[in-house]
Amino acid sequence: MTEAPKPLLLPDGRPAAHAWTLDPALRHLNHGSFGAVPLAAQQAQQRLREQMDRAPVVWFPALPKRVAAARAEVAAFLRVPAHDLALVPNASAGASVVFGNLPHRPGGEVLVTDHGYGAVTMGAERLARRWGGQVRTAHVPLHATAAEATAAILAEVTDRTALIVLDHITSATARWLPVEQIGRAAREAGIPLLIDGAHVPGLAEDPLAGLEFDVWVGNLHKFGCAPRGASALVVRSELRDRLYPLIDSWGAQEPFPERFDTQGTIDVTGYLAAPTALDFVERTWGWPTARDYLTALADHAELIIGAAFAELTGGSAAVDVGMPVNALRLVRLPEGLARTRLEADALRDRVAAELGVEAAFTSFGGAGYFRLSTHVYNTAADYEYFAEHCVPVLVDWARRARA
Ligand SMILES: Cc1ncc(COP(=O)(O)O)c(C=O)c1O
Repeated sequence: MTEAPKPLLLPDGRPAAHAWTLDPALRHLNHGSFGAVPLAAQQAQQRLREQMDRAPVVWFPALPKRVAAARAEVAAFLRVPAHDLALVPNASAGASVVFGNLPHRPGGEVLVTDHGYGAVTMGAERLARRWGGQVRTAHVPLHATAAEATAAILAEVTDRTALIVLDHITSATARWLPVEQIGRAAREAGIPLLIDGAHVPGLAEDPLAGLEFDVWVGNLHKFGCAPRGASALVVRSELRDRLYPLIDSWGAQEPFPERFDTQGTIDVTGYLAAPTALDFVERTWGWPTARDYLTALADHAELIIGAAFAELTGGSAAVDVGMPVNALRLVRLPEGLARTRLEADALRDRVAAELGVEAAFTSFGGAGYFRLSTHVYNTAADYEYFAEHCVPVLVDWARRARA
């Protein structure tokens, strides 16, 4: 059994969770879906909103400069040049920017994997329909190594492939995909590559180092803990000249990325407060220490929850995930639970309502999984609670579902 890591504390000795405003009556085991914003960043955003509402006519014209400054800080965090990075509201928006701006390719195919984020894959399908082509789906076994996953994906490339959409970290299956290998192959073949890195910012120190891609998008409002509506769109090819933001606005005649800095009259305080969230973790613990903690805690959580299921079902709940992620893990649910995405979502809602636990359940290939997340405000007690109080109930619900 792994040792539970010692909880992270604030400089004044209080538990890390005191820097967040999460409801203490609930257990929060699903940072990955929607993030959680530390109070320092909430307050920074609130102060910005107050400035906006005190003098809107001063606020809005000055925004592009402020957005550019925030963009530079985000770029430094991701270790990419500021002129390669635009801010967009979320990963979905980043994907939509690509789908909406690629040159028309009659009969073109979009290559995705069966691990792709459903909402993004639907966008890919619409693009393929507009082109009069189709989506091709590469089937990547959950346990596939980097080499096996690369082979499975490249096997679906045809001479009609006009875009590859690849998750950097997958959502339902909590694994990395071999973006390095696919990036090299795509570049050689001249096929544009969109990497959906929604979960990545905060989880890797230098996540884009050495990668070849056209566009990469990553959410700052997941593991980066930024206020929602803050994502980085990084472009590493001449596609930069074709990409326009979702909202046509006064920046349209500017080059990339400046043209993304103006989006009409919208609230961009999430962008402006994002650096406060990134800095908060850095100043309080340092991101490397935070990542070590998330990893150790996830190791522990995966083991104790897997063991709790195994004890009651008699079967193993361990999941063989190729290229596993540090702060997102899968534990196999007993048969009968979360067989589809809709069932998984319904289970999430039922567990929150009846068991007081915010959790993520996912479905892949007809099997259901508990996808646990860790962040600095979590402690071993959160997962011990789940193992002790939720696992027996889930085993019971599964038995009833099968009956
Ligand atoms: C891989 C992936 N892509 C896209 C998204 C969508 O992110 P957003 O809702 O911020 O657009 C998510 C969200 O979980 C995701 O995991």
